[in-house]
Amino acid sequence: SFWQQIPKGLKRLPGPRGYPVIGNVLELGSNPHLTLTQMSQTYGDVMQIQIGTRPVLVLSGLDTIKQALVKQGEDFMGRPDLYSFRNVGDGQSLAFSTDSGEVWRARRKLAQNALKTFSVSPSPNSSSTCLLEEHVSKEADYLVRKFLQLMEEKKRFDPYRYVVVSVANVICAMCFGKRYDHDDQELLSIVNVTDQFGDVAASGNAADFIPMLQYLPNSTMKKFIEFNKRFLRLLQDVVKEHYESFEKDNIRDIMDSLIEQSQENKVEANANIQLPKEKIVNLVNDLFGAGFDTVTTALSWSLMYLVTYPDIQKKIQEELDQTIGRERRPRLSDRPMMPYTEAFILEMFRHSSFFPFTIPHCTTRDTVLNGYYIPKDLCVFVNQWQVNHDEKLWKEPSKFNPERFLHAGGTEVNKADGEKVLVFGLGKRKCIGETIARWEVFLFLTTLLQQLEFSVSDGEKVDMTPLYGLSMKHKRCEHFQVKQRFPIQSSE
Ligand code: HEM
Repeated sequence: SFWQQIPKGLKRLPGPRGYPVIGNVLELGSNPHLTLTQMSQTYGDVMQIQIGTRPVLVLSGLDTIKQALVKQGEDFMGRPDLYSFRNVGDGQSLAFSTDSGEVWRARRKLAQNALKTFSVSPSPNSSSTCLLEEHVSKEADYLVRKFLQLMEEKKRFDPYRYVVVSVANVICAMCFGKRYDHDDQELLSIVNVTDQFGDVAASGNAADFIPMLQYLPNSTMKKFIEFNKRFLRLLQDVVKEHYESFEKDNIRDIMDSLIEQSQENKVEANANIQLPKEKIVNLVNDLFGAGFDTVTTALSWSLMYLVTYPDIQKKIQEELDQTIGRERRPRLSDRPMMPYTEAFILEMFRHSSFFPFTIPHCTTRDTVLNGYYIPKDLCVFVNQWQVNHDEKLWKEPSKFNPERFLHAGGTEVNKADGEKVLVFGLGKRKCIGETIARWEVFLFLTTLLQQLEFSVSDGEKVDMTPLYGLSMKHKRCEHFQVKQRFPIQSSE
């Protein structure tokens, strides 16, 4: 609090004065990423706000964020104890639970290894480079046919609802070796309403800080808790099936691999750590949950930009025709040869900044940042949106312009600029799905764009206003149309 003693030589955190009881909640408004960006211009990269009676540290500026999350990574790697987070994955979530000690570390490693084995590792008995390529190719092909079928039957459609099932099927194939139909009601009842999750899990949700708000009737919190329960139920069934058909000598997918690990009950590098069985097996909740909503959101924003900027869409298709042609499907290995497409994806991540804050962090000990004293257990918001729209880093940040990432006459992506785009977090808590996500977005997009031209029906416009959440969505648009670019060939 304000009266707390600050160690000599250190500065007190600056920030706006808050009202009693509610703090700065009213100023935060419905777009905290924008208001906190604006506030950082007054108070700086390191500032403190009050949500309810609880102080929150807000970090801005790429250098400051790197200093905190990378150079002082240990100090800033915690997760705060928030009411909503206790409801994610039964309170056992790798990403949202308060654990950041040895158990978290060992689980994170297990999840990373299992994920890698069933996604980007070379695939011995398949014609594709890796399982990820195989799954995405298949689902993207299916999506192309689905869009064409929708055009024939309805003349227009909302792509989101189909993209989300395709993307869910990719992570599902890796986790469970299972595929859902595009009309599967149980799956749709979860993947189609992820805003019920993201509205509450977002940074700055007042109900996490002002306990009274948790009890309001019919609140979004209720939907959130219901969503998490439904999600667990869906997965529990699949987990049960896997235990029943598990064979030690035939590890089929991530789930099997986790069951195997839980039976051996040791983690090589951490032989002194004993993980409870459930804490290994339930890692699949995090992988599945994190694996579909984010990538779906990325693809959906991509489609929005493509219909808003038809010239940009054309340029990607020209690049596709030149580097891949029309005879074969895009592969992951084509990515380095497609700088314009890469620049488009980077600009989509930067401009939309649809993951505006990381998942909230918290300090693990008293520390100092930029000369400011920062106490232990302080909740920390990391403003990724601010970095991606910082005028000190970007020329005309509000303009959508893929070419900002190109140099050498448009033949190369400027790697240094690409790395300034902050969407996956940094440091110890950095997203473990980054590689998969980037490959997936590339392969879905190129497979769709090789065959289809996207537009919205005459007189309609898409609404690009982001709706605030853990990951920001756009308003759904029912008016998408596709045209086949050339006769479909079988992918065999
Ligand atoms: C954490 C972004 C895809 C798994 C995160 C964080 C961000 C993020 C911002 C939090 C970092 C922090 O708190 O500092 C994204 C974006 C994605 C994506 C933008 C897609 C475009 C994926 C995928 C997976 C995944 C495909 C797995 C299949 C995770 C996990 C964590 C995480 C497990 C928690 C890590 C921890 O707390 O230790 N992601 N992610 N993500 N992500 Fe992703």
